[in-house]
Parts: sequence; C-alpha cells; structure tokens
Amino acid sequence: MYSLVRKALFSLDAEQAHDLTIQTLKIIGRSPLNPILKAVFSCPAGSARTVMGLHFKNPIGLAAGADKNGDAITGFAAMGFGFIEVGTVTPLAQEGNPKPRQFRLPQAEGIINRNGFNNYGIDYLIENVKRAKYDGILGINIGKNTFTSIENGKADYIFCLNKAYNYADYITINISSPNSPGLRQLQYGEALDDLLDGVKARQKILTNQYNKYVPITVKIAPDLSEAELIQIADSLQRHKIDGVIATNTTVSRETVNGLKNAEQQGGLSGKPLHDKSTDVITRLHQELKGKIPIIGSGGIYSVHSAQEKINAGAELLQLYSGLIYQGPNLIKQLVKSIK
Ligand SMILES: Cc1cc2nc3c(=O)[nH]c(=O)nc-3n(C[C@H](O)[C@H](O)[C@H](O)COP(=O)(O)O)c2cc1C
Repeated sequence: MYSLVRKALFSLDAEQAHDLTIQTLKIIGRSPLNPILKAVFSCPAGSARTVMGLHFKNPIGLAAGADKNGDAITGFAAMGFGFIEVGTVTPLAQEGNPKPRQFRLPQAEGIINRNGFNNYGIDYLIENVKRAKYDGILGINIGKNTFTSIENGKADYIFCLNKAYNYADYITINISSPNSPGLRQLQYGEALDDLLDGVKARQKILTNQYNKYVPITVKIAPDLSEAELIQIADSLQRHKIDGVIATNTTVSRETVNGLKNAEQQGGLSGKPLHDKSTDVITRLHQELKGKIPIIGSGGIYSVHSAQEKINAGAELLQLYSGLIYQGPNLIKQLVKSIK
C-alpha cells in the first residue's frame, strides 16, 4: 500500500510532498477519521520503559523536523509512536532558506535538507499542542532565530523554554542543525557551558513556578572530533542535563559521493547517516556510562539498524527519513521487535 503512496509523493518535489503529508495528517487528526487511521495502522503496544522519569509506551519516537509546527501531532500519534518531538521552533516565525531546500537521494535512501528552521514561531506551536488530542510523551525542540546572533542565542532558547515548559514532557535544546549559520558553535567550550548554565538555571525557576520538573535534552551533531565529543559529554554531566539526542544530520558526503543531489548543501539524513551516528552513540555511551540516557537518531531504516543503536547504548530511538522511504509500517515493525 505504502509503495503506491510513496510513488505519488516521490513524483512531487520533496518539500511539497512533505507539506502535503502534514496537511493530510492535520486534517485527518482533527476529524472523526482519526480513530480509523489508528485502527488501520493497528500498532502493537510495544515494550514500555521509563527514561528521564517519563513513561514511554514504546521506545520509537518521531524525530524533530517532521512536524515543525505541531500541526499533525494527533495524526502522527495514530501511527503508533511512543513519543513525538515537534519543532525545531524559534521565538518568532521565520521563512528559512530559499526553496528548493530538500532533496532526495533515492539510491542511498538519504535526504539532504537545508531548511534553516522554517517555522511559524513558538506561540503558533503551543496553540497546536494545546489543541492536540494526544496523551503520549511530547518533546518540544527549540532553537534560535537566524537573525539572532550566536552571542545572544541563549536569550532565544530561554524565551522558548519559558513558553514551552508547561506544555512539554521534555524540551530539546537544538544546537546541531547545520543549516542555521554558526549554530553548531554552541556545542563547544565556554559557549556550551554558558548556554547550559542559563538553561538549567531557568529550568529550576520554572520547576518551582509550575511545580513540575520537565527534563532537558541536548541534540548533538554527528560531525564531532573525538576531543569535542569528550568535552560535550563532560559538559552535559557537569550541568546535569537529562538526556542527549545523538545525532542530527551530517555535513559529510563520504557515504553518498557521486550520487545525484549529493552535492547539495545541507544536512544528510537517512540510511547513509546510520553508521556515523551509531559510532557517536557508542563513544558517548563509553563516556557517559549510563549516567545520561541517549536517544538514538540517524538512519534507522529496519529492525536491525534500530537494534544496532540500542546495542550501542541508546535507550530510546527517533526516526524521520526512514518513515519517508519505508512508510508507517516501519514503526509497527520496530515497536513489535525492539525490546
Ligand atoms: C527535512 C528534515 C528536516 C529536519 N529538521 C530538523 C529540525 O528542525 N530540528 C532538528 O533537531 N532536527 C531536524 N532534522 C533532523 C532529524 O530530526 C533527525 O535527527 C535526522 O534526520 C536523523 O534521523 P533520520 O535519519 O531518521 O532522518 C531534520 C531532518 C530532515 C530530513
């Protein structure tokens, strides 16, 4: 069935296909058809677990970027995900980079995007979250506006943290998109320490204000040197960060050299990212020794590829590109098999 849907979607430009999917899920999610969608997908319950103090009905999540504005939360939930991460969202709406900015690499089952945090802003997203009929785990992934300098970036994260806190089960600090100029600088040294100091101090204030503790995760890039990875692991532990998402997309092209669209600028995701991101999970796990849970993301396209991430030390998993290439049946297979 999905092969037909995929054929139709792949006849469109990648971003048009994405927008059409979101619009369809948005309409179905808000209509009486949503229970029917749930019945059609009939995803099993899966193996539940508690991570970061939160109860996940299964370990398979939707990665950020698929539903940037939280338009289709109810529709995605019907597919059986154990958790959903919306965003990246910024304080104010922004258009992102000029189109076209999303490209498929079908031979490799990869995607390159340089969207640049196109989104309608945090207020729009929060309204959608309030309206969604979803009682599972919801993560809100936050970033900074492109026009905000790196030096002032912390204020954007704090702004979004304030707005999102009462509506999220966990909040992700995205400092690893390759498409927001300079953003990845926040992953290093004093800039990282300063950002995490600010975020943790604010989390403490908000915990008292709302009388609830919302865990903070940090999403990192796969393109880190050994020394950088060790430094990040140290900083995450010193700041008592609750979870780490490894990884975002890669700027490397070593696995897709020569393929159509490989020369496009942006972050590469999907199958060609899998091994690189799994290597980061392995190294991170050695450094963190289970003290901070790892959420594995990057190129999950089968039960085997997902199991490799669990074996490397991930406690939860997220996917996006695999959903585009394999369809919602992939979620069902993963939920059934990953223990
Ligand atoms: C089109 C597209 C847009 C994305 N946008 C975001 C984003 O806004 N924020 C973010 O943290 N990650 C974003 N990602 C990265 C994904 O969340 C995920 O970490 C990455 O694609 C690796 O997983 P995958 O190989 O299963 O897609 C995006 C990925 C794609 C393909």
